[in-house]
Amino acid sequence: MRAGPDLFLIRWLLQGAAACLIVLAPGWASASSWAAPGITIIPRPADLRVTGETYAPPAGVVISPPPGDPGARRTAAYLAQELERELRRPVRIGPDGDIRLVRSRDPQPAEGYHLQVGARGVTLAAPDDAGLFYGAVTLVQLLERDGTGGFRLPGVEIVDAPRFGWRGVMLDSARHYQSVAWIRRFIDELARHKLNVLHWHLTDDQAWRLVIRKYPRLAEVGGWRVEAGQTARSGGVYTRADVRALVAYAAARHVTIVPEIDIPGHATAALAAYPWLGAGPAPPAPASGWGVYPNLFNPTPETMQALEDILDEVMEMFPSPIIHLGGDEALKDQWQASPEVQQRIRELGLKDETALQAWMIRRLAAHLAAHGRRMIGWDEILQGDLPDTAAVMSWRGVSRGLAAARSGHDAVLSPVLPLYLDYRQADGEGEGPGRGVFPLRLVYDFDPIPAGAGADPAAAAHVLGVQANIWTELLRSEARVEFAAFPRLAALAEVAWTPADQRDWPDFLGRLPRQLARYRSRGVNAADSALRVRISADISEGGRATVALNSQYPLGELRYTTDGTAPDANAPVYSGPFPAVLPAHVRAVRILGGAALPGAAEAVFPASGPDWSNGQLGLCTAKLALSLESEAGPVVRVDAENPCWLTPATGLGTGARLRLSLVSLPFNFELGEDVRQIPLDATAGDGGVLEARLDRCDGLLLATQILDDPSRSDRGAAILDLPPQSGRHSLCLQLRRSRLGPFWAVARTVLDPRPADQRQTPPAP
Ligand code: ACM
Repeated sequence: MRAGPDLFLIRWLLQGAAACLIVLAPGWASASSWAAPGITIIPRPADLRVTGETYAPPAGVVISPPPGDPGARRTAAYLAQELERELRRPVRIGPDGDIRLVRSRDPQPAEGYHLQVGARGVTLAAPDDAGLFYGAVTLVQLLERDGTGGFRLPGVEIVDAPRFGWRGVMLDSARHYQSVAWIRRFIDELARHKLNVLHWHLTDDQAWRLVIRKYPRLAEVGGWRVEAGQTARSGGVYTRADVRALVAYAAARHVTIVPEIDIPGHATAALAAYPWLGAGPAPPAPASGWGVYPNLFNPTPETMQALEDILDEVMEMFPSPIIHLGGDEALKDQWQASPEVQQRIRELGLKDETALQAWMIRRLAAHLAAHGRRMIGWDEILQGDLPDTAAVMSWRGVSRGLAAARSGHDAVLSPVLPLYLDYRQADGEGEGPGRGVFPLRLVYDFDPIPAGAGADPAAAAHVLGVQANIWTELLRSEARVEFAAFPRLAALAEVAWTPADQRDWPDFLGRLPRQLARYRSRGVNAADSALRVRISADISEGGRATVALNSQYPLGELRYTTDGTAPDANAPVYSGPFPAVLPAHVRAVRILGGAALPGAAEAVFPASGPDWSNGQLGLCTAKLALSLESEAGPVVRVDAENPCWLTPATGLGTGARLRLSLVSLPFNFELGEDVRQIPLDATAGDGGVLEARLDRCDGLLLATQILDDPSRSDRGAAILDLPPQSGRHSLCLQLRRSRLGPFWAVARTVLDPRPADQRQTPPAP
């Protein structure tokens, strides 16, 4: 079987609800204006009581851990550093301070804490180190400005502990490399969300990042690749020293790094380094496309020994009690085609290739167990006989994980929907690359143990927790990863930490502006998608338009202007679509408590005719619908199997001209046999042909344009002169191509509905 619906398609094609057309410019109000006071702890504590008192930290704040308690002292040092960053003044550790850390003897759940803020100071009590640490994290979030340039803490009593012990995030450093310095900052952010597992995806078809002394070529060869459309190698590796430093840094913040070595599939980079580990033809290099490759490790004694050697070094570097062995998406074609592998299956007395995978995983799990570690694997490991101690990471929905829990296996729930954060948070301009759309609320509302499954307490006890996965095929930079991660990790934190009956979406939404301000003050490139205003215009004949505004979630009031000035608390409130005369300059923002929220938008609608960016165009089909970052800059939404866009309906007049700006994209998708289903047209030449059809993609052909070769340039252009049409019409803009190489995507279209003799040449789009 090839990349069929249960594998590749699930990872790539699951589409979220699509938002629609938008023109906007992202904007931030000044951080302090909307960082209004109020208790905005994320994740929301299990139990919080406001006392009405206030504590004003003195000029010289002192934190007092109990003497002779190194764990408490570490939290004191962390707290001092965090408070100094906020207060911008020195914070000391010493006796008799206002902020007292205490080792409570009360029975408390693991990682729990008890925090009291009164007029005379703060008492933070916890039995374990993690609890003290999380109390400190909460304390920092209580800090608010007092209105006179100082700070205060509202009086509270908080008794808090997490719902789940595994509050994880997977970072894919194989598809794209992130620097050690950035991962450190990412760990800081996880800790600030009370997230405690960084599952580190270090090996895949596209890279092997981890330096292994005994097999140096793994990282030497596997750490670098030539990206599609490029000529130079790029990438990076993590050395033993890097790993040790990160593990220690994470441990100091109560984050465990769980490494993943993906076995037996996703092995192309390793096999490019050491072809003898493989079951098929030697791959020439790490893969530079996205999808599921057929390359598998072989089950020979030599390879099994090598995998154990690799795990030995992994265990030396990572103290994590649990190690991830992958197990996902291992297509069995190469094993089926290999006489040696078939012979081995017979020697081992196994039924088939699935049983062989289970045998490999069991043997490696036993090797881990012999060293006091246990394994976790993606839910495909359930297809074979599984060691009792193996934990399952449920990604193809939660049902396999919950079934595993019912059969006594520990499970971590990280279903594609909604916890794969390479799905975008919204459609439209200003969003990053990614797959379909999983908005913030979808993550927030995720119910890890739905009714029914939760009825069985024994099974529920085997659900270790939840995890969001950040695959980085499409997230080429650290800034892109941050944008995809935040603020959805704040929603995940609340799913993972807060008792189910305390979760409250409107309340979370109310805390979001402050959380966005925190990200901003720390330099985190968090998305404002949830609050961003989207402006669209329905353009009618005679230079008139109807303008509509919306945003994902209704916080505060939506206010706008039409004269190009910045809307403030006195601007008109939006109550529904309004008429405008073209040219129109619309600006809009949500206002809360008199201050502008993040997500302000601005759009100019020219008199000459509609100007649609890619984000305002629909896709004709959604076979492999992705938003891709082009080398030229813009992020464009495209169905890579059928590059075809639909414009909004508009008047075409008596001979309109459509000017398109195009960006070149590589076709670097591993689709297996499915690639044969992509229609090609041998007559379409090197660059392809762009066609415009009336209303539908099988509608009347209005115009065609032969395009230049997209492998020669990052940007291109096309002009389509359309015959006269009465009424309003949508246009289907479809690329016909002769081959699956680089191809053009429509980045922007400018329609001039005037006939040729009245047309002034508008500036090139
Ligand atoms: C996965 O998404 N292949 C675990």
